[in-house]
Amino acid sequence: MESIIITIDGASSTGKSSLAKAIAKHYGFTHIDSGAMYRALTFYAQDKKLLNNRLFDVKTLISRLPTIDIDFSKNDEITLNGKTIEDEIRSMEVSNKVSIVAKEPRLRQFMVAKQRHLGAKGSVVMDGRDIGSVVFPNATIKFFLEASTEVRINRRHAELVEKGENVSVEEVHTNIEKRDHIDSNRDDSPLIVPENAIVLSNDKDGLMHIFTLATTEIDKHLT
Ligand code: DC
Repeated sequence: MESIIITIDGASSTGKSSLAKAIAKHYGFTHIDSGAMYRALTFYAQDKKLLNNRLFDVKTLISRLPTIDIDFSKNDEITLNGKTIEDEIRSMEVSNKVSIVAKEPRLRQFMVAKQRHLGAKGSVVMDGRDIGSVVFPNATIKFFLEASTEVRINRRHAELVEKGENVSVEEVHTNIEKRDHIDSNRDDSPLIVPENAIVLSNDKDGLMHIFTLATTEIDKHLT
């Protein structure tokens, strides 16, 4: 069977990863959360004291790239040099800095190369901001997810609270608006609706609704 590439782009907390996971499970494809990769790099920079509120030593981070191994080898959980960091990358500390890391062109080049490499291994569903526009412009099927800011804030806040993080709705609101601004206005690969993408609204009907719409489109391609 030919390898299938499905891309799902959209702003943070629009439900991309939930949809990607459900599609991957349904068809037996691999799910790659590209946002988790940018988060892993941000976590590395914070852990190595290259990034804090005052400083971002991007030069040193770039020089370390050949020693940084980001993968999804352990039960599809993200690993950084072999260590699972699934919980660490979801913290507010990482969320507050990830867009600063993600706007650096040299760091994006490194990520895009990795994402293409991971996508060459078989059929994949990859979610992110530039997957249908830059990483895989010739993907089999492209989706773009939208949701209102209110729905996104509540979704993100509930996720963080469930993980035991002590965070207010206002903090989540500020973080989402700030990231939207940086992610949509950066020079390199800003968040856009990719050409030929199918736009899905994930406001009130929930995952099952968009899953049905998405699989109907994918099934049309597969049959
Ligand atoms: O999907 P997420 O919220 O976990 O993504 C975290 C950040 O990573 C997001 O604010 C922007 C960046 N990102 C990106 O620039 N390009 C991607 N393909 C995926 C994420």
